[in-house]
This record gives sequence, structure tokens and C-alpha cells, in this order.
Amino acid sequence: MSEEKDAAARLRELRAQIHEHDYRYYVLDDPVIEDAAYDALYRELRKLETAHPELDDPNSPTKRVGGTVLPAFVSKPHRLAMYSLDNAMSEEEWRDFVTRAANKLEREGQPFTRTFWVDPKFDGLALEIIYENGVYAGALTRGDGEVGEDVTENVRTVKNVPLDLRPHAVRANLPVPALLEVRGEVVMTRQDFYELNERQREQGGKIFANPRNAAAGSVRQLDSKISASRPLTFFAYAIGAQDWAGADPGWTTHSGIMAGLGKLGLPVAREGKVAGEDAVYPYFKTMGVRRPDLPFEIDGVVVKVDSLADQEALGFTGRAPRFAIALKFPAHEAETVLKRIEVQVGRTGVLTPVAILEPVSLAGVTVSRATLHNEDEIKAKDLRAGDTVVVRRAGDVIPEVVRVVPEKRPADAEPFPFPHICPSCHSPAVRAPGEAAWRCVNLACPAMLRRGIAYFVSKSGLDIEGIGNKWVKTLIDKGMVKTPADLFNLTEMDLIPMERMAEKSAANFVAAVEKAQQNATLAKLIAALGMRQVGTRTARTLAEHFRDLDGLAAATSEDLTALPDIGPEVAGSIREFFDNAANRELIERFRQIGLWPVSEPKTAVPPEATPLGGKKFLFTGTLPGMSREKAEALVEAAGGRVMKSISKKLDYLVVGADPGSKLAKAQSLGITILDAEAFQELLGEENARGETL
Ligand code: IVH
Repeated sequence: MSEEKDAAARLRELRAQIHEHDYRYYVLDDPVIEDAAYDALYRELRKLETAHPELDDPNSPTKRVGGTVLPAFVSKPHRLAMYSLDNAMSEEEWRDFVTRAANKLEREGQPFTRTFWVDPKFDGLALEIIYENGVYAGALTRGDGEVGEDVTENVRTVKNVPLDLRPHAVRANLPVPALLEVRGEVVMTRQDFYELNERQREQGGKIFANPRNAAAGSVRQLDSKISASRPLTFFAYAIGAQDWAGADPGWTTHSGIMAGLGKLGLPVAREGKVAGEDAVYPYFKTMGVRRPDLPFEIDGVVVKVDSLADQEALGFTGRAPRFAIALKFPAHEAETVLKRIEVQVGRTGVLTPVAILEPVSLAGVTVSRATLHNEDEIKAKDLRAGDTVVVRRAGDVIPEVVRVVPEKRPADAEPFPFPHICPSCHSPAVRAPGEAAWRCVNLACPAMLRRGIAYFVSKSGLDIEGIGNKWVKTLIDKGMVKTPADLFNLTEMDLIPMERMAEKSAANFVAAVEKAQQNATLAKLIAALGMRQVGTRTARTLAEHFRDLDGLAAATSEDLTALPDIGPEVAGSIREFFDNAANRELIERFRQIGLWPVSEPKTAVPPEATPLGGKKFLFTGTLPGMSREKAEALVEAAGGRVMKSISKKLDYLVVGADPGSKLAKAQSLGITILDAEAFQELLGEENARGETL
């Protein structure tokens, strides 16, 4: 009995501690514990929970991993309707909104404070999160505003959503609400979106067109384990129903609510603030400038009358509040004609449809192609050659075809028949159950061969200088290269008779191949093989654990999955590669040629022990004498990470010539700024230190 009591007390303590560490890490971005110490707490909690199933808690931190699979989503009504917002597209429309509000308040005899709360208009999925007696009790999507879908299990897995408000309330001297509905938006940061799509691409999974679709698709999963594996971020921006059981949180303004939500442990965007009437439009303009540097996508700003008494007096029209308005950025959208859909064969055989467009200028860039991802997307959008389509470029995301303009469809436009044979070698393509992609599985497919060899010589592979796609194509078409190994047997005599190959360039070609052979590391060679789901990072892990290609080829699935970051799918793809006779023959040829890099296998190196130990870098501007790729590779080789957007989590911003707006942002966040020289110095110093490790 007393043991049971002890266990209950320890469980409470561990859960509270881990909740607090999650809050510090995911909400405040200010962790106070080492990963290893956190892991130890987490493991202890898991163990104790397994030993004491009777002390289960649906809001334990361990429940963030998901597990429940629903047969279908259940619809539930919102206690209070979730309205949408009216838009203002110009400063004049914003002034009109203020005049309307002022007139209405005057009629009601309510003095107008003309003070507003302004914050970003997040481009994600609107949610309502329900807390009962201070603990997480459920979540609904906005749905049609009246009725939403119950996504309780999925939202529980979103790391920055607090599951227990009570310790926060106690600390902030706030009452614990009997009921509090928190409204906000679930988004995916650009960095997380980019990394998710990379993973999806390597695994043949669904590719998301933009961060909003990725966030919405990740919340609307019937299997909460999938939601849990997706990097989602929540931002609170308002409340719904509330009941403080007689206590009073003292909220009289929207800014007061936002501060209160922050105190209760909820994530609120740093960019929100109070603004007087004349400061609102400048805020909108400033956010428009900062937009590309924000870690998440926004499509405008939202302005709310700050005083809750004013809000109440203003009330709602049929669809939107009269006390709030969205100032929207003009969209980078344009109409153009879809000339045709082409299907390309990738290195791993994936058939990728590409929209060939009548060139159109979008935010200063001419767009003539857009990826269409896969068969389902073409079907869902019903894209047909000849259609007029709307194309969009959002932030730095690749252009996408948003929709067809049906009124402009030519009478004879036919649905696109997605090819079920490879457009290059005409062998049957296959679409595996659960996969979105059709693949060519003919190992001798010339398109795959071309892509495979192009990849082999590219920067992601052995980095053979000066052999571009044209050369690869010519060499393959002439039958001079059938596998990557053939590149190493080419002599100047073979090359000189070829068109456009002067003696000098033939010599350069052969020299470049030789140099690449000498510089080949095991990690580079593994990456160059282009196995599905094995990118540069995984290749590095493999090279750290196996001495040479023989070692890797002999590894069983169990050996492979024992390594960090290698799951059963990656292991399966590596096994599949080496189980293929043609590939084993290729490896034999590498050995004969002497392309046989050997590494000193290490036992797992914790990131802290690598020279740049997980430090996060971002680049802006041009570095003198060094390409961006090279600089990024140096950082990664030293164990650092290269980020795509600016955030407080960055350790260094490396600044070259003509830096962008990232510089000012980094300065305001107090991030260490390195110029090219300081960057070189850091690398040099760390390398020197690294060698003594
Ligand atoms: S406030 C009563 N604030 O915009 C006010 N909405 O067009 C209700 N949205 O579905 C909304 N960012 O999902 C508010 N900072 C923000 C917002 C925001 C995004 C979304 C919201 C709503 C849509 C309305």
C-alpha cells in the first residue's frame, strides 16, 4: 500500500517535472535541462507507468506519442460559434472599419477607446482546445464554425500545447478555470515543413504543397501516432467559452486575455501587441516586411478592438465579429494557361508529373513549371491541358497550381490519363498500396540510369566537377556509360572523338574523375549510390558504423535498425539495394577500380562530442570565395545544423556580402553574428579541437 502511495507521488512529481521541461523547451524556447537528464526522467516515468497501469493519466507527458486509431472523425458542436473574419485589403478599408465601429459604439452610448490588439494572421488550421478544471479535455477543428471535428487525440500530441494549466495558474496567482476554451491556429514552421517533405519524398509518402496543407493534413489523421510524428506548433489568439466558478481572472481587454493565456502556459506569438489606431497600419506594413523571415507563414495581420466592453457592444454580423478585421497581404497569385502535363522519372523511379505553364510573372519571378506531386493531386484538382489555372508562390515555397478556373476551360479539354507505364523505358509502372507515387521498377531504365548517374556525380554524391546533366546524357546515349563505375574507365582517347570535347576538356574530365576517386569518402560513396531514403545524413551515419561497402552490404536489418535514425523502412531499402545482383556487381567493380574508401568506424558519437555539437547555423548574403553549399557542408561535417529560417533557437547567423533582412532580425534576437572571417576561424578552431577528440 505504501509502495503504491510512493509510486503515485513519484508519478505526480515526474509528470509535473516533464510538463514543465516541455513548457520551457517548446513554449519558452528556453530549456533548463540537458537532453540526457530529460531522457532519464522520461524513462523513469515510462517504467513506473508500465508497473502501475492503475495510476494511468490520459494527460501524462508519455501520452504525447499518440496511439489511438479512430474509425472516423466525430463531429461536435462548438459551445460558442467560431466566426470567420472580414478582410480589409487597403488602408482605406481599415479606416472604414474603424469608422463603422465608432459609429456603432456611439449609437450604443459606449465610449470607444480606439485601442487595438494586433497579431499575425496565421496560415494554418483553426482549433479550439478545451480545458476542464485546468486539464486538457479535448480539441475541435473549426469546421463550419458551428460544428467541428473532434481531434482530441491528435492535438494532445502537439508538443507546445499544455496538458495541465494548474501549476501555471498557481504560479501566476490566477484561479483555475472550471472551463476554458482556447482558440488558435495549428501551423507548421517552414523549417519543419521542409524537413517533413524531405522525409516524405525519401519514403515515397505524400508531399505537401505548403505548410498550411501539411499542418491541416497532420491534425486530420485518424491514427494519432501519425499526428504525433508530425512537427506541429500551436498559437493561441482568442478564447471561446469560459467558466471561472465564481472566481475572476480580471480580464477586461483582449491584451489582458493574451497575457493571461501566456501565464497559463499557452503559446502566444511574440509578435502580438497593443496598438493605437494610427499604429495599426504601420504594424501591418512592418509585418509584411518581416513576413519572409518569420519561422511560420502568415497571410496578414488580425486587428481586434482591445476593450472587451467595446467588443461586446459591437457584437457580430451574421458571419464575422464587428470588433475584429483581417488586414490581408496581397497574394502572389496569377492566372495562366496549363500547356500540358509532363511526367518525369526520378532517380528512384518515381513518376513525377510537372505542369508546363505559359510563362507568367509572380512576385518578380517568371514561373513556367510547377510540380504537381502525383496522380491524386491531378485528379483532385481535375487539371487538364488547356485549362486556365491559378498559380501561387507562397514565401520561398516552390510555385504551385492552386486550382482550375472552370469558366475558362476549353470545350475539348480531356482529363489527364496518368501513365501507368514508364515514359522513358515503357515498362509497366507500379503503385504500391498506401503509396501516392507510381514507380518505374526497371533497373535498366535509361531515365533512371541518367538520373542515377547525374546524382552519383552531383554534390550530393561524389561531387565530380564539370560533369553536368548534358554530359551524362550524351555518355549514356552513346552507350559509353552504363553504370557509375564506367565513368572511372573512360580515357582521354575515348572522349576526344566526341562532339564538343576538345583535348583540353577531355583531360579535365578524366582529371576530375580521378580527383573525385581520390577524395571519395565512404559516406560520400554511400550517398552517391542513391539508395531510396538514404540521403547524405544517413550515409554519414552508415559510414561511421561500417568500415567499407563490404561491411555495409553484410549488415542485417537488425544491425541497421540498431543505428541512430535508421528505421525499418530505411533498413529495408538498404537491404533491397544490396540484395540486387546488379548492385552487387557494381560494388565489385568499385573494388577492382580501387574506388574503395575505408572509414574508421566509431561507436556512436553523441552530438555534443562533435566539433560544432548540434549548433544551429543560418546563412545570409554571399560568402567571399565559398559557395553556400560548401559552407553548409562544412557546418554539417562538423556536426552543426543548417537552418532555413531565423528563430531564437539559432546559434549563429553567418553574414556575407549583401545580407538580407535576416541580419536585423538576428541582431534584435541577440543571435551571434559571424562574418566570413569569423566563420572560417570558428571552423578552423573547431576542426583543430575536433582532431584532438
Ligand atoms: S481571431 C473573433 N486571430 O483567421 C475573432 N483569427 O478568417 C476570431 N486566424 O478561422 C478570429 N490568425 O483561424 C484570429 N491572430 C488571429 C488569427 C486568426 C489566423 C484565422 C482563424 C479564422 C480565420 C478567419
